[in-house]
Amino acid sequence: MLRIRERSKSIVLTKSFLNTSHYFSSFPRLNARFNSARLLTRCLETSLSECTSAESLNERRKGICPHQGSRVRGQLAVAITDSPFENGEKEQAILGRIGANVRRFHCTNESEVIDAARNAHVIMCDTSPVTRKVIDSLSKLVGVVEYGIGYDNIDVNAATENRVLVCNVPDFMTSEVADHAVALILALTRKLDRIGRSTRAGEWNWREFRPISSLDGRTVGIIGFGSIGRQVAERMRSFRTRVIAYDPYVTREAMEKLGARSCSLDDLLEVSDVISIHVPLTKETRQLIGRKELARLKDSVILVNTSRGSVIDQEALVESLRKGRIGAVGLDVLAREPPISTDPILGFENVIVTPHVGWYSEQSSSRLQEHAALEAERILTGQRPEHPVNPEVLSKRKDR
Ligand SMILES: NC(=O)c1ccc[n+]([C@@H]2O[C@H](COP(=O)([O-])OP(=O)(O)OC[C@H]3O[C@@H](n4cnc5c(N)ncnc54)[C@H](O)[C@@H]3O)[C@@H](O)[C@H]2O)c1
Repeated sequence: MLRIRERSKSIVLTKSFLNTSHYFSSFPRLNARFNSARLLTRCLETSLSECTSAESLNERRKGICPHQGSRVRGQLAVAITDSPFENGEKEQAILGRIGANVRRFHCTNESEVIDAARNAHVIMCDTSPVTRKVIDSLSKLVGVVEYGIGYDNIDVNAATENRVLVCNVPDFMTSEVADHAVALILALTRKLDRIGRSTRAGEWNWREFRPISSLDGRTVGIIGFGSIGRQVAERMRSFRTRVIAYDPYVTREAMEKLGARSCSLDDLLEVSDVISIHVPLTKETRQLIGRKELARLKDSVILVNTSRGSVIDQEALVESLRKGRIGAVGLDVLAREPPISTDPILGFENVIVTPHVGWYSEQSSSRLQEHAALEAERILTGQRPEHPVNPEVLSKRKDR
């Protein structure tokens, strides 16, 4: 890919454009400025001849030149330290266009990430730990792209101090997660899991599963009123529930606009019949729902967590379940994933656990993989990424 700067405007041309004579029809504004293909060709040549850091014309076409604003020199390298996808073909196809060498690993700890990403300019990751030690050890690193929304596995402060950009891909799975949270709420309300299992075992009996309560008129408490929390609120209102929400970073007015009443965490815990959690995992939200908070819940409450496992104190939750102090629980996320087979949370009839699948649909996964790769491409080619988590790094990008 090539970028020509023409006064303040910059135009990006892919290799295939360079090889075709039809680019004018695709760039009407360009057509207006350059009235002949020859002129454009000359402009391109001038632009290339100014690319002093690249080794040859071919490399310049494949790789990076100063006109693209990139700070990365030489062979571009991307390490996929772990990913939820079966293969890395999409990343390879997208990043191969700029000549990047893409390698795929299955790292689960710091030293594996350091080994895998030793020569990498960009790390793409799902849950592998990109800690301070990792970032300090990787001198070539300019960016980290998280496959998905939650980036609690990345030390963003360390990245910012090292002028490493961190980006996530927040837009492509919110409705899937909201659907999953609502599916858990409905399944637990209607006791589908237990009744289904009993029917498959040859029973035809619903009476033993009473009480089954109606959702109509019940209070649903949403903790974390961001993209997913809002969609859950919207869906739950259609079941004629009363929606309340706790989020210290969202105004009362913004909540009211979406039909939710703002309240304190304590009030939400005490009055809700259903609670759905949608906060990021941060220092502030780690074990946000601990022993004290669990003690405030109604005995019949349905508690659903599709955010991050460590937002709930899982030991305290197991204790509450053992004491029968909680109606039912739906968890798509656990403090430890995957859980060991003896994890007590797996042993309750009134708990549904799903394997961190809320984000997934055929559509969301395809979009996620593609957009993560495009974000990595933007970092490597010096373009502005779409979803920087630490945008302050953008003005301080350094040479690697
Ligand atoms: N289960 C899955 O597959 C899956 C998929 C995607 C995302 N997630 C998780 O869901 C989380 C939420 O995603 P989102 O897209 O809605 O994020 P978001 O950033 O749009 O919303 C998060 C909301 O939480 C609020 N918040 C932050 N700290 C809080 C606190 N201490 N108390 C209450 N609210 C607080 C924020 O103000 C924000 O409104 C992600 O961070 C991720 O961990 C899980």
